[in-house]
Amino acid sequence: MKFEFSLDGFTTKTPPMLGLDISSTSIKLVEISEAGKDLFRVERYAIESLPKEAVNEGNIANMEQVADVLRHAWKEMGTRVKNVAMALPSSAVITKKILVPATLSGIELENQVESEANQVIPFSLDEVNLDFQILGPSPGSPNDVEVLLAAARKEKVEDRVAVAEAAGLKALVMDVESYATQGAYDRIAHLLPNGGAGQTVAIVDVGAQNMHINILHNNESVYLREHGFGGNQLNHEISRRYGMTSEEAELAKRKGTLPESYEIEVLRPYGETLAMEVGRAMQLFTTSTQYHKVDHILLAGGGAMIPGIDEVVAGRTSTSTMIANPFSNMAVGAKVRPQQLAADAPSLFVACGLAMRRFDAQ
Ligand SMILES: Nc1ncnc2c1ncn2[C@@H]1O[C@H](COP(=O)(O)OP(=O)(O)OP(=O)(O)O)[C@@H](O)[C@H]1O
Ligand SMILES: [Mg+2]
Repeated sequence: MKFEFSLDGFTTKTPPMLGLDISSTSIKLVEISEAGKDLFRVERYAIESLPKEAVNEGNIANMEQVADVLRHAWKEMGTRVKNVAMALPSSAVITKKILVPATLSGIELENQVESEANQVIPFSLDEVNLDFQILGPSPGSPNDVEVLLAAARKEKVEDRVAVAEAAGLKALVMDVESYATQGAYDRIAHLLPNGGAGQTVAIVDVGAQNMHINILHNNESVYLREHGFGGNQLNHEISRRYGMTSEEAELAKRKGTLPESYEIEVLRPYGETLAMEVGRAMQLFTTSTQYHKVDHILLAGGGAMIPGIDEVVAGRTSTSTMIANPFSNMAVGAKVRPQQLAADAPSLFVACGLAMRRFDAQ
């Protein structure tokens, strides 16, 4: 499933485009090209830290700071591509399923969707960007089709477009983060039994502020959730234990300059907590939906960079668990160091999904 809020100047044939993930701690840019039939190549990527609070819960709080970091990251990356595919945080988007008569098409369908949207969306339609996707015939009502509506407040879309513009870039696609992960997932689905067919697969992206969960059944998204848990908790624990600010903690953690006790006394318990949170989230899913179990967990986000975390999660949840590396089957361009890419891959999950948007059939 893919969403797209239409943006000015969007053309039907998608030109080269970078994936741009503006998250709470950093900016991630990924450029992927086609290297052959069904073969892709990671040409370049960049990850650049954002100042604290520049982005909060997906909201761009300081446009200037974010644009500065983006401009810098783009320069460092050394690409000529200025078009970007971006995403809104799932929390900024309202989705609703509605039914419309199956006989409608074109402008009639659009009008019907708009009038239904007017009733289910708690904002005036002037204030939102609206998108919809036909899901298929309605199981309960044979003369209707199910349509998935997505609405985002215009200013959320405009803020992101403006940040890209201020950095000299042009936003061509505005996706939703949870759906953007699908493009990255498609690159690793072949590693699952039957390519994921008939399986229930949980993509668990452990970021800094949030754990973003997208559960797929039969390779289609059936459940989205965010839980307020992530790397910030680890920083908090480090600052408490070693008397540092959370910025110092983040830096020390990344540079590996923490005292020897860190691994056993702080990181390991944090990994256990993370695994427990994942377990709880899976339980919430199985108890609140028709699905009785999760067959596979794919770990993404910065939280997946903790050494051995896949085994800890697998042990705690009794579910096969894999660190998501969407680039594992891609060629690597001359500008990319393969080892560094492998290490950074989980946190590039969303950016990779967005970078793959340029290959969508139009
Ligand atoms: N090697 C590591 N060990 C432990 N934690 C790490 C490691 N590398 C990164 N992290 C943590 O991962 C988090 C960043 O991950 P990521 O880039 O996925 O977050 P984000 O996308 O900015 O956050 P969010 O999705 O919540 O907006 C930070 O909290 C960082 O400290
Ligand atoms: Mg993230």
